[in-house]
Amino acid sequence: MKKFVLPKIYFGGDYTPEHFPKEMMEEDMRLMKKAGVNIVTINVFTWAQLQPNEETWTFEWLDEVMDTLAKNGVSADLGTATASTPAWMAKKYPEILPIDSNGIRFNHGSRQTFNPNSPKYKELSLILVRKVAERYKDHPALCMWHVNNELSHQVNYDYSEFTIQKFRDWAKDRFGTCENLNKKWGLHFWGNNIYEWDELMPPMKTAHQVSTSLLLEWKRFTNECYMEVARDEIAILREITPDVLITTNFLYEFGTLDYFAWADLIDFISVSSFPDPKITNHPGEAALSHDIMRGLKDQPFVLLEQAPSQVNWRLANVNKKPGVMKLWSYQGMAHGSDSFLFFQWRASVHGSEKFHSAMVPHIGENSRVFREMTEFGHELPNLNEVVGCDVKSEVGIVMDYNNWWTVEFTPGPTALLNYLENLQAYHYPLFEENITTDIIPYDRDLSRYKVVIAPLLYMIKPGFKESVEKFVSEGGTFITTFFSGAVNEYDEVFQGGYPGPLSDVMGLKVEEFEAMKPYVNNSLVMNGTLPNVTGEFKSKLWCDILQLGTAQSLAEYGSDFFEGTPALTVNNYGKGKAYYVATLPDKEFLGQFLKQVCADQGVKPVVEASENVEAVVRYNDENEYLFVMNHNYDSVDVTLPEGKYFDLLTQQPMQGTIHFDAVQSAILRKE
Ligand code: GLA
Repeated sequence: MKKFVLPKIYFGGDYTPEHFPKEMMEEDMRLMKKAGVNIVTINVFTWAQLQPNEETWTFEWLDEVMDTLAKNGVSADLGTATASTPAWMAKKYPEILPIDSNGIRFNHGSRQTFNPNSPKYKELSLILVRKVAERYKDHPALCMWHVNNELSHQVNYDYSEFTIQKFRDWAKDRFGTCENLNKKWGLHFWGNNIYEWDELMPPMKTAHQVSTSLLLEWKRFTNECYMEVARDEIAILREITPDVLITTNFLYEFGTLDYFAWADLIDFISVSSFPDPKITNHPGEAALSHDIMRGLKDQPFVLLEQAPSQVNWRLANVNKKPGVMKLWSYQGMAHGSDSFLFFQWRASVHGSEKFHSAMVPHIGENSRVFREMTEFGHELPNLNEVVGCDVKSEVGIVMDYNNWWTVEFTPGPTALLNYLENLQAYHYPLFEENITTDIIPYDRDLSRYKVVIAPLLYMIKPGFKESVEKFVSEGGTFITTFFSGAVNEYDEVFQGGYPGPLSDVMGLKVEEFEAMKPYVNNSLVMNGTLPNVTGEFKSKLWCDILQLGTAQSLAEYGSDFFEGTPALTVNNYGKGKAYYVATLPDKEFLGQFLKQVCADQGVKPVVEASENVEAVVRYNDENEYLFVMNHNYDSVDVTLPEGKYFDLLTQQPMQGTIHFDAVQSAILRKE
């Protein structure tokens, strides 16, 4: 995959001058200069302002915005404006409005209320994209394209006639005959098999549960529909501006789209990142999001939207405390973000987002948030040399969106299965140890890792078995967990016992499983075979009851009718080892276990530091940059690894033990 390196760090935010009197633009330019802003995202929700009716175009205001930006040395992340359809369109062509799973049409009046498969939406949106691209293709402010916005976030699925017909054609293309589709999806279950293509229905409101294979394929199909929306826009942008970078913003916690499939469509990955700034927030949450985003292309990415302080859409919207905006931005950079944009530049005065934080709050420049932004904006140019660097990691965590969907919508064994929580269960202890992880798709080359973890990998796709067997036999360490290897890519159960295709490498089979009520625990009683991890640890959620083949037990269950049977196993396979964690152990166990497994493979923490001090290394051919972030609201001392460093933020040499104030970061070039 071609690597796009940004020319410098971009810093700015979503800018909506169309919400304010024209004269405000000059004031905005003054403040942008003051803060060091060099980019703004514009024209995201402005279709109605550009096209007041089908025959009329009013680009003049946008010309003025673009000209003003160019004159002031601010670049534009220029939206294609397709994210919010104008009122006239819904009135004239109601087909552009999506239909929900009850068959009821959405109404106009918000944003992103469009049917991705409506031919009229496609036609009109692509006319708009072409007009925008033609008009600004040579404009000096144009820096990158922002396609639509957070696609599918508001309308996850559409059930219109257009979409249903398209789904049938899609299924026909992939499966050829109804008979084959019935077989692959197992539609004979409850007699849901079809004989004619027009009998195929999406998973709409019915009396009881619908086929899980149908649900899976419907999600795959919808993912492709939204990809098509982006692809069609991108094709026009590439045709008219072949040299301008293209992106669209993703959301990590939003499991509806398969972002791995999207990675090739755009030039760089960008993300809207809004971790909750409540004091109890685990700093690993943002780290996991960043690792996912970096993993999509295996390249640096861009934090395209962060909140300067609070958002407006949680139950109670906590502020980012002083210094946290900077801390979280540097954390983003440590994990691969090469630019920092915020939602939003100036706080709106109307509508639902007026109490969402902004770089310029309602009170104006004399504010904590603006002062912090200004400080941040003036530090960033010192960090330009980090742009394009890779992140050092020897541990990969496998993540798969199809797996995410199916493991959560499959009725039983427990509705408490949450895929992200299970990824976090393995990611957080490593994060806490300062062992950096890559999040990787199932088909990435595993050979560059020493340890690969596949938590809750319920669905095993073709090729993964071979890839894991090769990785382990050549000396790698592989870890998987309960409820892995249960189904194939159509959600059909592997006969003969889980973990199905992984049974050989794991050296075991699952005979039964037990889903636990939320108030019930079991435990792992270590039997002394695994060095340095001793005693008894709590576990919850699930227990697989195992039949061991070549695997050896390292810990047994502490209770229930399967007390004394294996709860944690290892299988020596070729030169490597494969561990099976048959339950969801507590944090203490996973911390100690992962630390030991990593140590066995020679994977060391980047820095050994006190709790909530994070360290990550980025590097290129010339340099290594050590990022240290103190996530504590107290000061700490951190002893750096041996060697001399130069702190890019303070422009001072550093070595030995350094003092960090509350929420302070250091970005240290190794000298
Ligand atoms: C998303 C959207 C923005 C804005 C913010 C608010 O990221 O893209 O338009 O609504 O959320 O947090």
